[in-house]
Amino acid sequence: MSLTQNEIIIKQNLHEHFSSIASKYRSVRTLDTEPVLHITNQLNEKSGISIADVGCGDGRYSLELLKCLGDKSYLHCIDFNENMLLYLKDNLTENNTMNFCVRQGDASKLPLENDSMDCIVTFNAIHHFDIERFLAELFGCLKDDGQVFIYTRLRNQNSRNIWGQYFPLFAEIENRLFEFDELKQHIQEADMKIHSNRVFGHHRTSSLSRLVTQAENNHYSTFALYDKETFQESLKTFQQNIKDNFDDLEQIKWIDENILLEIGK
Ligand SMILES: C[S@@+](CC[C@H](N)C(=O)[O-])C[C@H]1O[C@@H](n2cnc3c(N)ncnc32)[C@H](O)[C@@H]1O
Repeated sequence: MSLTQNEIIIKQNLHEHFSSIASKYRSVRTLDTEPVLHITNQLNEKSGISIADVGCGDGRYSLELLKCLGDKSYLHCIDFNENMLLYLKDNLTENNTMNFCVRQGDASKLPLENDSMDCIVTFNAIHHFDIERFLAELFGCLKDDGQVFIYTRLRNQNSRNIWGQYFPLFAEIENRLFEFDELKQHIQEADMKIHSNRVFGHHRTSSLSRLVTQAENNHYSTFALYDKETFQESLKTFQQNIKDNFDDLEQIKWIDENILLEIGK
């Protein structure tokens, strides 16, 4: 199946976005440790496990996983963005982690052997993948008793976060995210099963200046989908909306919601 010209341009823009943000990705995004703990608890019984982190980015979650699992695992870090992978390598090495390898590759054609993985995880990335091809690859690479964990935010969760509520057009422009039923249907069509799902509500506190910095740095790739003028106007409106709705601009509080799906064959 070949890509249309429009799909190629979107893919190139996305690639440029992740290349340019790689050096500061860790500083502008928030790491959620609870889903990692949940995953490692589920895997606790197993030892000597092979794991793949697909769309691993600069390795924020890869490192957290390896910290929790220690020596009893080997992690394949897969992303198509070479810049992200350079930062991942530095990050994991600086943290004295050795049991990983870096593999540049596409979620649509995973650089993994058939039937080789005990566990495959993906954090905040599935909406960037061709989901049908990704699920077909999962099915091929996963051992029969293997576990897959997908951590993402649903479209409705996105519309309730600080950006979805107060940043003009954010929820509308971000049309790549899934709803639960859509994910469920894709998973069933790939002949896989949802073993469990868990919703996380993360209590966040931030200052308005930090939020503005995050948006200006495109910490969510959604912001890279705005044209310059619309982004600047929307940023102004966002600041006004926040001033109108929160008393303390140093302590803005909201809840970010995410979902973690565990699936298998
Ligand atoms: C939003 S970032 C998430 C990174 C990391 N999982 C995290 O949460 O910090 C999405 C990542 O997916 C990667 N990506 C997007 N499409 C991909 C694809 N088709 N195959 C492999 N990686 C892809 C991007 O390069 C980027 O590093």
